[in-house]
Amino acid sequence: MKKRKLVFATNNANKINEVKALLEACGPEVSERYEVLSLHDIGCFEDIPENSSTFAGNALQKAEYVNVHYDVDCFADDSGLEVRALGMDPGVRSARYAQDEGYDHNSEANNEKLLRKLKRVRDRSAQFRTVIVLLMDGKMQEFEGVCRGEITTERSGSQGFGYDPIFRPSGYDITFAEMSMEEKNAISHRGKAVRALVDYLKEH
Ligand code: IMP
Repeated sequence: MKKRKLVFATNNANKINEVKALLEACGPEVSERYEVLSLHDIGCFEDIPENSSTFAGNALQKAEYVNVHYDVDCFADDSGLEVRALGMDPGVRSARYAQDEGYDHNSEANNEKLLRKLKRVRDRSAQFRTVIVLLMDGKMQEFEGVCRGEITTERSGSQGFGYDPIFRPSGYDITFAEMSMEEKNAISHRGKAVRALVDYLKEH
């Protein structure tokens, strides 16, 4: 059977592999129907604009760019950390949270800033959110995954990336950075959103 090409608007190899693994896990009747390609696979090397104030807006912006410029079915994601005591900041600015302190896309500085902001704060509840927007057959579908938890008072663990060392998911006494990738994927915001996308693809 000829596979349908579906571009994931990212060049993050971990994200691509996660989607491929979840498609494989659905069995051959699904994985044999779709071929997931990265931006590099389709020759897209430009910086795709991403300047919306919402996760869904950013995901749509990226998916639309690829859809329009490369004429392919595609999906894009956007994620971030929302901290209740900070009015859901850093949100869409998660990767650039410490930019105002001279650090761009610097996880160490982002974690430092967040711990400082919460130093005297009792309500440390937070959540990670992922939104995926799929543009396929001229239709748009949105999928979301949320993982609730809290910000710890100090870093713990060395796995993962970003805010993982200071995020403890609800019901656990370890941070994301102390979990294996499989353990994290089973409960993470991205894992949930990707499984919702894969469930949709199963039916289409
Ligand atoms: P992205 O949209 O998935 O690239 O995520 C944007 C930013 O949100 C990342 O650079 C991280 O700072 C943060 N982030 C998203 N997901 C995670 C996660 O699973 N662990 C830790 N940080 C994350």
